[in-house]
Amino acid sequence: MARIVGAVTTSHIPAIGRAIAKNLQDDPYWQPFFGGFARVHEWLAQVKPDVAVVAYNDHGLNFFLDKMPTFAIGAAAEYRNADEGWGIPTLTPFRGIPDLSWHLIESLVAAEFDVTTCQEMLVDHGFSLPMALLWPGGGDWPVRVVPVSVNTVQHPLPTPARCWKLGRALGRALAAYDEDLSVVVIGTGGLSHQLDGKRAGFINKAFDEMCMERIVGDPESLTRYTIPQLVEQAGAQGVELVNWIVARGMLEGEVARVHANYHIPISNTAAGLMVLEPRR
Ligand code: DHB
Ligand code: FE
Repeated sequence: MARIVGAVTTSHIPAIGRAIAKNLQDDPYWQPFFGGFARVHEWLAQVKPDVAVVAYNDHGLNFFLDKMPTFAIGAAAEYRNADEGWGIPTLTPFRGIPDLSWHLIESLVAAEFDVTTCQEMLVDHGFSLPMALLWPGGGDWPVRVVPVSVNTVQHPLPTPARCWKLGRALGRALAAYDEDLSVVVIGTGGLSHQLDGKRAGFINKAFDEMCMERIVGDPESLTRYTIPQLVEQAGAQGVELVNWIVARGMLEGEVARVHANYHIPISNTAAGLMVLEPRR
């Protein structure tokens, strides 16, 4: 079976891509952010995942407002990064694992999640930058990937409760997979931020800290928020927290907090990072 070794949740701000390209990791502005990843690299070196299942949101790159799937799963052999306009260099393409993708899609549809299946899929900074943060160096990626795209862009958005159930269904599907694989699950985006409108620049540290605490010990309490409540508390783009909820949902039961980092601001965003491990 596929065994989940743990979850990493992280913000995915485009400016990170430029900072990596310009080697600014030790710059005073960036160090408190990049410094948080040293522990993640150690942990990944211990658990050595074969596969990453990544819950993220597309920002209008692969899916635009004209056609916006609520949930979409990649089933491609390869995913290319094609961000536009952020100054992020093109990255080495990510290798897919179509057999696992199709297994997950079949399990989800059988569990009444009517997902969009993508045999071709471009990925943007919501996917690629967390990968570059976890596996720096820009060479070949040591994991094969399954992108799970959640609509956080075009309302109506899926509720946190629905995202939790999607995560639980993905977790069960992974546990039922025949091949012996170790899997890291990743949730990207957040924490609080709002990029436009009257509240542009809005950050809510108290809410973020509460979410980082609850995601460990009481994740289901986060599923009681409605989307309007999340927008109010976390900002219009802070709703990307739902990707963390999908990732946490994939871990069964109790988890241990291996690592956490929180830093304000990176660009317009409160940057959060966590590593969680299932307690067996
Ligand atoms: C920023 C954050 C995001 O999550 C995003 O998708 C784009 C920009 C920012 O803070 O600049
Ligand atoms: Fe984003």
